[in-house]
Parts: sequence; C-alpha cells; structure tokens
Amino acid sequence: MSGRRRETFDAIVIGAGAAGLMTALTAGQRGARVLVLDHNDEAGKKILISGGGRCNFTNRHVAPDRFLSTNRHFVRSALARYTPMDFLVLVEKHRIAWHEKTLGQLFCDGSARQILAMLLDECAAVGVTVRLNEKVQDVRRPDLYEIMTDREVFEAPSLVIACGGLSIPKLGATGLAHRLAGQFGVPVISPAPGLVPFQAGDADLEWMTGLSGVSLPVRVRCGKVAFEEALLFTHRGLSGPAILQISSYWKAGEPVLIDLLPGQDGLALLKGMRTARPKAHATSILSEWLPRRLAEVLGPRLLGDKAAADWPDRLLRPAAEALQNWRFLPSGTEGYAKAEVTVGGIDTRALSSQTMMAASVLGFYAVGEAVDVTGWLGGYNFHWAWASGHAAGLAL
Ligand code: FDA
Repeated sequence: MSGRRRETFDAIVIGAGAAGLMTALTAGQRGARVLVLDHNDEAGKKILISGGGRCNFTNRHVAPDRFLSTNRHFVRSALARYTPMDFLVLVEKHRIAWHEKTLGQLFCDGSARQILAMLLDECAAVGVTVRLNEKVQDVRRPDLYEIMTDREVFEAPSLVIACGGLSIPKLGATGLAHRLAGQFGVPVISPAPGLVPFQAGDADLEWMTGLSGVSLPVRVRCGKVAFEEALLFTHRGLSGPAILQISSYWKAGEPVLIDLLPGQDGLALLKGMRTARPKAHATSILSEWLPRRLAEVLGPRLLGDKAAADWPDRLLRPAAEALQNWRFLPSGTEGYAKAEVTVGGIDTRALSSQTMMAASVLGFYAVGEAVDVTGWLGGYNFHWAWASGHAAGLAL
C-alpha cells in the first residue's frame, strides 16, 4: 500500500449512479468535501439507457405503497422529504423539457443524457470530485474508512454504499454493496431479480410458439398483489409491464394468475355470443376481445371447432376460467441479465430511515438499489435513488 497516493475527504461515495450522484451533490451543497468513485469509464450508465433513452425519472404518484421492502415503512421519511416536485424543480432549473406519459410517469422530451449532465453539473458546482475507472480493491476502517483502489488510497469518516444491486452486470453491477455490508456486519436480504420477464416451461412454450410479439391488456395477480397493464408474449415466455411488475413479488414455484379479459365477465360474454352469433366459430368470437393471433391459438384449444350454437354449458365454464384465471407457472425468470432492478439488498431494519446510516456502524451509509427497497415500474426506482441519496446527503 505504501507508495500509493493518499487523499482525505469528508465522505466517500462508492457508485456514480443515480443514488450516489444525488448523495454527493446534496452533501456538497452543505459544504462537505465529497469523493465519488466508480469502476466504470462513464458515470450513470443506467440513467443513460433508462426509459428507452428518455429516462422515466420520477412518478407523480410516488407513495410508500409503491415500494417493496422487508420493512415497508422504511421509505416513508425519505419520500416525505424528497418529493417528485423537488426533482422537477431541479429538472426545470436545468431547462430540461419533460412530459407525462400514462400512470403518472415523467420522462425527458429529449434524452436521458440531460438528467446525467444535470447531476454532474450540480456535483461540479459544489466541488464534488468524481473519479471513474477506479476499481475498489479493499475497504478497511482502522479509524477513518480507507478505500484502496488499484492506484490510490482514499480516506474519510463516512462511507456511502451507492454501488447498486446485481442487475445488468454488463453495465457495471458487481454485488460489491452486499459484500461490503457483510464485511461490516450489516445484514443483507437475499437478492433476487426484479422487474424481469418470466420464462415459460416446455408445455406452455409449445402452445405459445407463434405468439411472440402479441400484446394485450391483462390483470395479473400473485398472492394479494395485482396489476392491470399490458402483457407481452415473448420467444421464451411472458413480459410486458404487467409481468415485470408482478415479477418483483413472485417467488419460485408460485403460479401467477392472469385475467385476459380484465373487467369483463367471460362466461356471460361467451353465453351472449352463443345467442348473438350462433354460426360463428371460437376464433372469430374470441378475436372480438383478444388480439387475432391469440384468438387463433386459444379458440380451438378452449372451445373446439364447432359453431357457437353447439357449445354446451360444460364447455363454456372451463373456457371462461382459462381466459380469466389462467394459472401460469413460470419456469423461472430471465435473471439479472434482463432484470431492471434487484429485489432485496442491505436490510433496511439495520439502517436509519432518516439518514440511511447503519445503526451499528458509525459512518456507514447505504442508498439506492443497494438497499432492500424496490419500486414499481414507472420512475419509482429512480425516485428512491433521489430520495435516499437526498436523505443521506443531508446527514453527511
Ligand atoms: P446504479 O446501478 O445506477 O449505480 C451503481 C454504480 O455503482 C454504477 O455506476 C456501477 O458502475 C458502480 N459500481 C458497481 N460496482 C462497483 C464496484 N465494484 N466498484 C466501483 N463502482 C461500482 N428506473 C426508473 O425509475 N425509471 C426508468 O426509466 C428505469 N429504466 C431502467 C432501464 C433499464 C434497462 C434498467 C436496467 C434499469 C432501469 N431503471 C429505471 C432502474 C434504475 O436504473 C435503477 O433503479 C437505478 O439506476 C439505481 O440507482 P443506483 O445509483 O442505486 O444504482
């Protein structure tokens, strides 16, 4: 270690993503000397690809019930102190044009790069040092926190873990946050991929072949949680917003219940059609409510090849059940390579909800996706990065 340069700061943030940059700029605004370290060659890589390149940076409907955590009240304090309006004030200060899409989702009109530039400008304005291409080799705490990279030793009385979860390794995810928590005795809730497509087993894939690309509005349920959004058939299984949302709540081996006719009474619809269109066949009838390609597959499977007039009641009940209560048993998910977020992480029960500092380790903070807080799809995960980063930044 001797021979390496040694620099001292008030706080060192590991991770130059959304949460790390927000922590740094907030602490910097209060006069702290802050260093942000990242092993990538560019800050905020996930910001850049988010929201299809337009960054869904927050959501008008941010509320504690839109976040999963083992301690579900944990998010309240940080969310109350940093609202979507607070982030919009920052966005407007930087003259970034934005728009609202469905379900309260707020996006840039132009590019996600504007959000990253905004955060970096705010950091630069208050003298935050951002060092890229820094591989963290070791962290020790003889007195101050010492962070050893392959080139230097940095030290500070406070360390902020902002290095995210395990999702999308090719963008720089490493699991360092969980390892450091373990090293300092802070518990971690087992991580799992979240907001991730499901894979289907062979039996389902057989009939679903040919449906790839078909999308429709559904209601999907897992336990007591349900979402009404679009479902998308893929080559390997199911995706689309409804599936991504429910995937964060799903546990291996559980079925997911899918209603392909949300808000309707399938049995009544089928009986009505038997009277109204007695000569029609199942495909033609189902395509009144479902995409044509899906109706072509499900019609003969559920209702056979006879005209509607010949459908007995005993055929209609299971057909309606299959349409409205489809028990889909995923064979798995597409894993961290495709997961937008990581469910689980540093246990919120070990952190202060006011400051994000570990109760048992002075000066050890954790923010953003590294923490066991997962938002719904739609700007909630960035909002957690902003709110938790802001809370930590105020405490540094
Ligand atoms: P994040 O992962 O962003 O940053 C962690 C940083 O730590 C990275 O820069 C990484 O390089 C660094 N790091 C990791 N290991 C390290 C190590 N060993 N040494 C040094 N540095 C290390 N959310 C949302 O609200 N709206 C959206 O539109 C989208 N869209 C979206 C699209 C896609 C494709 C993905 C994968 C994800 C989203 N998300 C999203 C989720 C959102 O991107 C995510 O919740 C935040 O980026 C989390 O921010 P963090 O700063 O906590 O982690």
